[in-house]
Amino acid sequence: MSEKVGTVFNFLQLPDVQKFPFVIDKEKNQMMIQKGQFVCTESIEGYLIGVVEKILILNEYFSDALTIKAYNNENNPNILKGLFPSDDFEYAIAIVRNLGVIEFDNNDKIKKVNRMSYPARPGKEVFVVEDEILKQFIGLDYEKGLDLGNLKVGNLKAKIPINKLLNKHFAILSISGGGKSYLTSILIEELLSRSDSWGTPAIVLIDVHGEYSYLKSIQELSEKVSIFDSIYSQISVPNMNAYIFRKYQEQISNVQVRELANYIKKIRKKNKLYSLHNLIELIAETDDGNKSTKQALIGWLSDLDRLNLFGPEENPNLDNLIKPGHLTIFNFEKEISIRKKQILVDYLSNRLFYLRRTEKIPPFLLIVEEAHQFCPEAAHSKALSKYILETIAREGRKFMACLCLISQRPKKLSSTALSQMNSKMILNIKNPYDLKHLMDSSEAITKEYADTISSLGVGEMLLMGNAVKYPIFIEIRTRKYKSKVEDLLLTDLCLNWTDKKLS
Ligand SMILES: Nc1ncnc2c1ncn2[C@@H]1O[C@H](COP(=O)(O)OP(=O)(O)O)[C@@H](O)[C@H]1O
Ligand SMILES: [Mg+2]
Repeated sequence: MSEKVGTVFNFLQLPDVQKFPFVIDKEKNQMMIQKGQFVCTESIEGYLIGVVEKILILNEYFSDALTIKAYNNENNPNILKGLFPSDDFEYAIAIVRNLGVIEFDNNDKIKKVNRMSYPARPGKEVFVVEDEILKQFIGLDYEKGLDLGNLKVGNLKAKIPINKLLNKHFAILSISGGGKSYLTSILIEELLSRSDSWGTPAIVLIDVHGEYSYLKSIQELSEKVSIFDSIYSQISVPNMNAYIFRKYQEQISNVQVRELANYIKKIRKKNKLYSLHNLIELIAETDDGNKSTKQALIGWLSDLDRLNLFGPEENPNLDNLIKPGHLTIFNFEKEISIRKKQILVDYLSNRLFYLRRTEKIPPFLLIVEEAHQFCPEAAHSKALSKYILETIAREGRKFMACLCLISQRPKKLSSTALSQMNSKMILNIKNPYDLKHLMDSSEAITKEYADTISSLGVGEMLLMGNAVKYPIFIEIRTRKYKSKVEDLLLTDLCLNWTDKKLS
């Protein structure tokens, strides 16, 4: 049996259908009831569940200004305290927002949650919701869920059902330094340490800052992790048609695209594995054709060639790389050019989505760090990777291609993509514009949530959307495996530098 914490009573026009107040039992429980606590009471309709929204402390002795003035009289301090047992008249009340009336089946499992049509009943006892019921109400999966930490209130583990989280898309959002990458590494720890017999999607991670390479050096995980440095990545030129060239080099005109298509046709007859350089040579050597078109094409292609991104074969070969329960990291750490990064993200996403649609690779989770750089809102900037990321956001579910977008500037993130992120993991966000953008993209984020989001501490998050039946605040657990660079201090690096120079 769960613990009684108070009694429903009448206070300021309440209880009504939406809310009820209760007096908190003084002796044992005043410290225990917290904002966010799930409580229940018996209403006419049955088991009414709600969440504590506000806690107030009242004392009749201190509700009248004149009395308080007298109480604070310098000549006669503590007059009230001396005369009356004012401390004993202090009481705490909690205001509860009703969430629904639970209908149980014969095995005491939740069958349905109905909307309430009657208020709670004054005089009825209020209890803390039992863990077993709460687990079902939120939809936690204690058996095979991903362990992200603990619920902030109460003592339940936040074990998130993988099928609910990954069968649709999700976003991880916070200010810079809010803990997005840390949370991502916890998700990865959880996914990589699942039993082989449980079924786990392949994970592909666009690691913009090289923060995840440490996972490869961890003995328990190393076999399940592959890292590719972006400087060795190669886009296969023989796989590109003239329109793909134009995607990477927008200024190519219609006439030039047509010409280029002819050259590509020609080179394919001669050579299966050709490079950009070969293509440029062929154009230069061909005698017929418009001279200025040829010159322009050579110019555009040489410009692409200088990016050092294109080669005769795809590297790495994605068909063989993407495996269930395996993490593939594309490390962009050494890459400065934003254009190059966008081309790579575009290429990888397109290939992955194509391979998935044709069933050549298993279901995957594609995690994109700094997503606002790759899928920006039109008003802010352009990115050629935006189209495919929005497409996966819209269409990916059908093919079990799950997208996780990580960003510290939700406002700069494409609202088309953001509105498709069914679950959201929201850490601290301070910027009012970002909060407003979030509220616009999802009606579940009310003003009240927005206020709480701006006061979350490091390691605290709000999880809402498809992954859980009811939004919950989670205290994120600590990492099992540590990154070596995590504790690297600027001053240490400087000292090591000096030592290195001296030796
Ligand atoms: N749940 C947590 N527990 C302990 N430390 C955390 C937690 N989340 C984040 N941190 C710390 O906060 C700092 C910033 O986290 P990080 O994930 O890099 O932020 P972001 O990716 O949002 O910029 C890191 O030093 C990290 O160790
Ligand atoms: Mg980060």
